[in-house]
Amino acid sequence: MKTVAAPRDVRGEIDRAKRSGATIGFVPTMGALHEGHASLVRLARGRTGFVVVSIFVNPKQFGAGEDFGRYPRALDRDAELLESLGADLLFAPGDRDLYSPNDRTRISVEGLSDVLCGASRRGHFDGVVLVVAKLLNIVRPDEAYFGQKDAQQAIIIQRMAADLDFPARIVIGPTLREPDGLAMSSRNAYLDPEARRRAPALYGAIAEAKRRVEAGERSAAPLEAMMEARLREAGFAVDYAAIVDGGTLRPLDEIRGTVLIACAGVLGGTRLIDNAALRVSEGAVREVLLSFPEWSRYG
Ligand code: PAF
Repeated sequence: MKTVAAPRDVRGEIDRAKRSGATIGFVPTMGALHEGHASLVRLARGRTGFVVVSIFVNPKQFGAGEDFGRYPRALDRDAELLESLGADLLFAPGDRDLYSPNDRTRISVEGLSDVLCGASRRGHFDGVVLVVAKLLNIVRPDEAYFGQKDAQQAIIIQRMAADLDFPARIVIGPTLREPDGLAMSSRNAYLDPEARRRAPALYGAIAEAKRRVEAGERSAAPLEAMMEARLREAGFAVDYAAIVDGGTLRPLDEIRGTVLIACAGVLGGTRLIDNAALRVSEGAVREVLLSFPEWSRYG
């Protein structure tokens, strides 16, 4: 596996791989890699001929007072893991490789970016789509992989890629969980033992809402109230406990179609998020990934 920092060097490597007939798979990350990232790299490895992984802690998606400074960084360990997973190219740019003080362009995905996590993290998703658009332009992959764990991000990126005619297919991989249900996340490293013990309550609340939908509940409000109460009991400062439309993220009264059950809260100073997406039709409830290839002309 080669490691490069400059976009021009990425281009050179990709041009060479394309000339040899390989399709390009791309996994953008902020590093501090865990099994969730590894599963996306394996997915890319199985579907494409040349696998690129980027590691860049993107300052533009962190607000003032957020954890940019202390976000875990482990480039050497990450590179070893990627090597063992069979990645072909690690793109690890510095700030100056991606951003210039002269940059003036901003991208905003209206209506999806200012709800749920976006309501309390103003500007966060604008920072995410800006860097993802730049990375997609540099790497020009056939497929790019994102995790369902960050469901709102996954939806926003699919919308942005479709709206801006990026030809890459956006592939969503499932959330990986610890044995007690906690979704894998680089931020789990912040949890002290007491917070780590309480943290699985987040998925516990979502799983209970899912069970009640499977049992026939179709009203969102009582399930939202149940999730919020459970999170408070476990010591979370609740940001939201919501059941929304899986494509538009609009609030729902009745649970029908593709729905996203999503919660976010702060536990012991660490912000945690988790979700489950369900397809609910007459008499059938099925857990799904929020993947919308039909949004893209290149689907
Ligand atoms: O999910 C992440 O790790 C980041 O938000 C991403 C997509 C790599 C953009 O910085």
